[in-house]
Amino acid sequence: MKYNTVKNAENILNNSKYLVKNPSNSKNNWSSVFGNNNPIDLELGMGRGAFIIEMAKKYPNINFIGLELDKNQTAYALDRLNRENISNLKIICSDAKNIIDFFGKEINTIYLTFSEPWPKKDDARKRFTHESYLRLYDRVFKKNKHIILKTDNKILFASALESLSNYWYTFNKVSLDLHNDERNIPNIMTDFESEYYKEKRPIYYVDAKFDD
Ligand SMILES: C[S@@+](CC[C@H](N)C(=O)[O-])C[C@H]1O[C@@H](n2cnc3c(N)ncnc32)[C@H](O)[C@@H]1O
Repeated sequence: MKYNTVKNAENILNNSKYLVKNPSNSKNNWSSVFGNNNPIDLELGMGRGAFIIEMAKKYPNINFIGLELDKNQTAYALDRLNRENISNLKIICSDAKNIIDFFGKEINTIYLTFSEPWPKKDDARKRFTHESYLRLYDRVFKKNKHIILKTDNKILFASALESLSNYWYTFNKVSLDLHNDERNIPNIMTDFESEYYKEKRPIYYVDAKFDD
């Protein structure tokens, strides 16, 4: 998928009610941001936001936060949101490696959707399922740890399964072809996933947990 530049991206970022501009100020206080004590789920690398927006609409009793590094992708998502009125969704434009500055032990589920695969061995540390990231997630999960990952990339998927199981996660569900899985796993597609679906590419899926 092409990453197009969004016209007036800065302007969209500056004027959106969904963007939390100083997320560090909300650390340990996200329940007040949302105005309720509902669980909070976080997507890292949300891109244009199709997944997190639809999740927020489908599950109004869960609060959602979409985090994205790239300003253009974030602006695209915020522009989509201008046409919506969703009270259980907030957006952060930042690097995922900063999450411990933004959250205390407040997160129920982390979604890793079509994350950069970083296929070269030397770049493995940058994968969102590298142990260094799993350690960060430990610091933001409220109690039990819960990660849902989807990808079309076999190398990333294999390394994610290895990394998660080495870190004592167990697997609720694993699928090597999410869209053709007989179990009908509930699913909302991301923007990338919609493209891959058209191309009939298999999507790898894991729902992993670590219960205290
Ligand atoms: C392949 S895209 C997938 C986007 C979206 N999840 C989807 O499935 O349509 C990966 C996204 O992760 C974002 N990203 C990469 N590294 C990141 C980081 N360290 N922190 C936050 N976002 C990141 C990229 O900017 C990009 O938008």
